[in-house]
Amino acid sequence: MTATPGPNGKSPADSLKENTALPLIAAPMFLISNPELALATCKEGVVGSFPALNQRTSEGLDEWLTEMDEGIAKMKAADPDAVIAPYAVNLIVHKTNPRLEADLELCIQHKVPVIITSLGAVPDLVKRVHAYGGIVLHDVTNVEHAKKAVAAGVDGLIAVGAGAGGHAGTMNPLTLVTEIREFFDGIVVMAGGLTTGKDILAAEAVGADFAYMGTRFINTVESSADPAYKQMICDAKASDIIYTPAVSGIPANFLKKSLEDAGYDIEELKKEGVNAPKLKPIESEAAAWKTIWSAGQGVTNIDDVPTVAALVTRLKQERKDAALALQGKPGLGKPDPAKPGKAAKPKQKPPGF
Ligand SMILES: Cc1cc2nc3c(=O)[nH]c(=O)nc-3n(C[C@H](O)[C@H](O)[C@H](O)COP(=O)(O)O)c2cc1C
Repeated sequence: MTATPGPNGKSPADSLKENTALPLIAAPMFLISNPELALATCKEGVVGSFPALNQRTSEGLDEWLTEMDEGIAKMKAADPDAVIAPYAVNLIVHKTNPRLEADLELCIQHKVPVIITSLGAVPDLVKRVHAYGGIVLHDVTNVEHAKKAVAAGVDGLIAVGAGAGGHAGTMNPLTLVTEIREFFDGIVVMAGGLTTGKDILAAEAVGADFAYMGTRFINTVESSADPAYKQMICDAKASDIIYTPAVSGIPANFLKKSLEDAGYDIEELKKEGVNAPKLKPIESEAAAWKTIWSAGQGVTNIDDVPTVAALVTRLKQERKDAALALQGKPGLGKPDPAKPGKAAKPKQKPPGF
């Protein structure tokens, strides 16, 4: 299936890439992402986002969209040559979301550049977003849903693999991207445990256009997560992430310690696996996610809380270093000594080792 060129004759993937400084989207996260985080990522040339439902009402969403539009316009005016990335809003397309129509209408009024849909991929929504020049990316965890979304006309698919924060899939993200690429040449985004510049390069190597990072952005100064949540991520390894439907009815990844603190029996959850019944010690989904903290297996690589600007600078450097390091690998050609930065560095033990 071939991507339809936009009004400028460019594919949606090329248009989006042209406006980013790194092939990366900071993923929308319930109760975490807000305009402060999204504007900080857009400023660094990384697509920023938030779920529409992070505002309690559609009126509140309208205020956030105005804040985004004004914030981005201000950044562009201050530095016309800077690459300021577009932003995205996540809409839950499901009958249980009574705000969908009102929120979509606001996104249309504000011409939100990228709409990220979860659960349902609907041709009517895609048409209405295309009408103002927007792009639709749809979240999928398997090939069956990916094919349905392509049939609905979406511009891109977000392949959410195993180990992702939130409602993760069970497929290896490398395999999921590879299978999607067999029938789709639109925008493909890879998600699931990605936290470093090396991971971005790996996503590109298997054919994704963008990497998608959620958990990594929880641990930034600008995220609205509780400081204790950020510390728990710093302390956790992948083995501290529990995949269970017991909190929200659909399997999602949570930090083991936060489940324990909320009174869950980890051994019982592990035994029940994806068949664990939804336990209801807490009155609502929002209350549950406020106290039981979701994170992906990428916590292994996270041990700090930098500003978004410092994080993006680091991700860019790691991606570059990883690309250069591969040049010396068997079958990939020799590093070019004429080019600076490619000579092998003398090995030094890091301090403290
Ligand atoms: C705390 C948390 C909340 C999330 N909430 C949402 C959400 O509201 N909508 C959505 O589409 N995805 C949500 N996600 C999933 C992310 O958008 C993204 O797919 C995921 O974080 C990528 O995996 P990673 O965390 O390993 O980087 C959430 C993830 C986390 C960690």
